[in-house]
Amino acid sequence: MDVKGQAILEVRGLSFSYGPSKDILKDARWCLYSGDHVGLWGANGTGKTTFLKILTGLITPQAGEILYGGNPVSSKQQWHDLRLKVGFVLQHPDDQLFFPEVIDDVAFGPLNQGLSIEQAKEKSLQVLRDLGIESIAHQLSYELSGGQKKLVTMASVLSMSPRVLLLDEPTNGLDIASRSNIINIINGIDKPRIIISHDPELLSETCNRFITIHDGKFEEIEKPAEHTHVHTHFYGQAHHVHD
Ligand SMILES: Nc1ncnc2c1ncn2[C@@H]1O[C@H](COP(=O)(O)OP(=O)(O)OP(=O)(O)O)[C@@H](O)[C@H]1O
Ligand SMILES: [Mg+2]
Repeated sequence: MDVKGQAILEVRGLSFSYGPSKDILKDARWCLYSGDHVGLWGANGTGKTTFLKILTGLITPQAGEILYGGNPVSSKQQWHDLRLKVGFVLQHPDDQLFFPEVIDDVAFGPLNQGLSIEQAKEKSLQVLRDLGIESIAHQLSYELSGGQKKLVTMASVLSMSPRVLLLDEPTNGLDIASRSNIINIINGIDKPRIIISHDPELLSETCNRFITIHDGKFEEIEKPAEHTHVHTHFYGQAHHVHD
């Protein structure tokens, strides 16, 4: 029997296009349930980032509705409320970091959620500590490396203790230690999530449901699995590459 959890984020009749020959979604329907740790996988340009932007109201679809907890999200206030609960780590950190100092970006969410300056700062420092980047709390964001910026965007979302996590390529550009730290942190947060990644290993380590976008619709796919091939050819022992 297929037992589903509660509907958390749902789209119905969703259509979105960037222009006449740029259809991304066509009358698509999909739902993120409680307990879902979704890996969103697919080739470059298939619309993965676009979908998460639609889910958070950064892009308005031409048709369809978005529901949070079973209720349609449409007014400005409803979108504002949704963004306080649904944490979205964007693909490009420069789109997410606005303040000169790291700590201000990380504390922005908690302050918006009503915490005092002291509480927000304390929470932000704790998250930076968890991510192993407390030492850059007072550094200027534009002086950081790409990987450090990615970690700061992660911190700016985790500091809000979101109910849902949307992560767009969370480990892109990170070194091995930061990547495995992020995987541990993600796995330590038992909340519904959607993770976009081109890294099948990351997805299989952090997700329990896998989807892709095909022909404007969402398709469930198998868990990525590592496998090896045995083959014979005429290179002998010589080092060679495969197309
Ligand atoms: N602002 C925009 N205006 C016009 N076209 C856009 C815009 N943003 C994205 N696109 C196009 O829409 C398609 C989907 O883009 P999107 O960024 O959602 O893909 P993606 O699946 O996240 O790809 P990637 O794996 O490379 O990040 C691409 O063909 C892209 O060129
Ligand atoms: Mg993308």
